[in-house]
Amino acid sequence: EASMPHIFVVLGASGDLARKKIYPTLWWLYRDRLIPENTLFLGYSRSLLTVGQLEERCNMYMKVKEGEEERYKSFWKVNYYIQGSYETRRDFELMAQEMTKLASFRANRIFYLALPPSVFDVVTSNLKGCCMAPQGWTRVIIEKPFGKDSDSSAKLTSHLSGLFLEEEIYRIDHYLGKEMVQNLMTLRFGNRLFGPTWNRDNIASVFVSFKEPFGTQGRGGYFDEFGIIRDVMQNHLLQILCLVAMEKPCSTSADDIRDEKVKVLKCMRALDLDDVVLGQYVGDPEGEGDAKDGYLDDPTVPQGSATPTYALAVTTIHNERWEGVPFILRCGKALNERKAEVRIQYREVAGDIFHNQSKRNELVIRVQPGEAIYCKVMTKTPGMSFGLEETELDLTYGERYRGAKLPDAYERLILDVFCGSQMHFVRSDELAEAWRIFTPLLHKIEQEKPQPIPYKYGSRGPDEADKKLAENNFLYYGSYKWTKPSQL
Ligand code: BG6
Repeated sequence: EASMPHIFVVLGASGDLARKKIYPTLWWLYRDRLIPENTLFLGYSRSLLTVGQLEERCNMYMKVKEGEEERYKSFWKVNYYIQGSYETRRDFELMAQEMTKLASFRANRIFYLALPPSVFDVVTSNLKGCCMAPQGWTRVIIEKPFGKDSDSSAKLTSHLSGLFLEEEIYRIDHYLGKEMVQNLMTLRFGNRLFGPTWNRDNIASVFVSFKEPFGTQGRGGYFDEFGIIRDVMQNHLLQILCLVAMEKPCSTSADDIRDEKVKVLKCMRALDLDDVVLGQYVGDPEGEGDAKDGYLDDPTVPQGSATPTYALAVTTIHNERWEGVPFILRCGKALNERKAEVRIQYREVAGDIFHNQSKRNELVIRVQPGEAIYCKVMTKTPGMSFGLEETELDLTYGERYRGAKLPDAYERLILDVFCGSQMHFVRSDELAEAWRIFTPLLHKIEQEKPQPIPYKYGSRGPDEADKKLAENNFLYYGSYKWTKPSQL
C-alpha cells in the first residue's frame, strides 16, 4: 500500500558504513522525494547517541547543497535513534516497541545490517523473534562478506532461510547498482547490432577489469582476512561476467534474470592456482604520501602476510555460446589508475585484404569513472590516403547526456528495496555457485601460501599478468589510446 508508513532501521548506525554510505544515501533519496514521504528512520547501535550526535557524525558525508538546508533539517526530524546490544533479545523487543510507538502496527519495515559478520546470526535471529512487521512487509538488507567460502556461506544462507523468505532478503552487491552494469542488459538485448556476434564465432576474449589507485587505507585488518579475490572478484567482477555472458532471460523479472545468471555460473569450473596471477603491492620509494608504503607496511596487516592485493584469473564458460573463449577477471589495489571496465575483444577479420593493418574490434563498456560505451573500429584514414587507422564509435555519457544525473549505486539499490525489486540483488543459489567456483582456489592460497608477485604502488601491476592476458587471446596493442572527445 502506498499510504502505509515505512520504517527504515539502520543497525550499526554509529559505524563507518552507516555514516559514510547509508545515511547519505537515505538523505539523498529523501531530498529527491524518491522514497515515500511518510518514511521514518531509526538508528540502532551499541553506542549511546542522540540524533544530534548522529547527525554530527554524518554531516561531512551528506553533501548538503545551498538551498537544501530546510529539507535537510526536516530529514533529521524524521530520524530516531535507540541504543541496544546485538545479542540481547530484550533490546530488540524494546526496538519493536519503539517502532510501534513511532508508526503504529501498520508499517512496512526495512532493516539494513551495517554490521560486522560476527553478529549477523544473532541479529537476524533477534529481528525475526521480535521485530517483524505485524502488518505490512519486512525486508532485510545485508552486505558482504556473505561467508568466506562455500561452507561458511552455506551456513549463513541456511540460517537466513530458516528465518526469512528469499523475497525478504536483499543481498547487496553494489556493482549491480551502477549505471553501466545495469545497462549491459539493455545494450545486449535491446539492440539488433550486438546479439548475432555475441558468441565464440566472433569474440576472441572478454576482459573484466577493476583498478584502484589506492591501497588498503587502514582497512588492512579486514582486508587481510579476505584478500582481493573475496573483496572484489568473487562478487563484483563475477556479477559483471554473468551479465555479459548470460543468455537472454524470458523476461526482465528478477527471477528470470537470476535464473540465467545461475546458469552461466553452473557452466564454469572451479578455479585453480594455474588459472591466476597473484600480486601484492610494495611501496614506491619515489612515490608521494601513501605510495611510499607497501601492503605489509600497513600496521593493521599481519607481518609477512601473503594475502593478494592483485589478482588476474582466467575462466571459461563451458557452453555452446562460449566454449573456448577466455573470460579474464582482473582486479587490484594500489595501481596506476581508477578504472572499471569490460572489454569485449573480437576476432580478426577472416580473409584479410589490408596486409595485416587491421586491429581487432573492441567493444568497451566503461563502468567508471566517466561512464562510456565505445567501440574500437578500423576506418580509412581520412583524406586521399587509403590507409587504415583505428578510431572509435563513442558514446561518452558526459558528452552525450550532459548534465544527466547518474545516481549512486546505493541510491538505486535502496530504492529497489522500497519497491520490492530484487532484480539487482544476489539470490542464494547464485551466491552458492559463486563460492563453488572460488573456494578451492581460496583454500589452496590459504594452505600453500604461494608468494604473491610484488608490484610497485602506482604501477600497472605485475608483468606476469600481461603475459597471461596475451596467452589467453587478449591482444594489447599499446598503439592506441582513447582520448576523451573534449580533450581532442
Ligand atoms: C568494495 C570493496 O566492495 O568495493 C572495496 O570492499 C572497493 O575494497 C570497493 O574499494 C569499490 O567500490 P567502488 O564503487 O568505489 O568502485
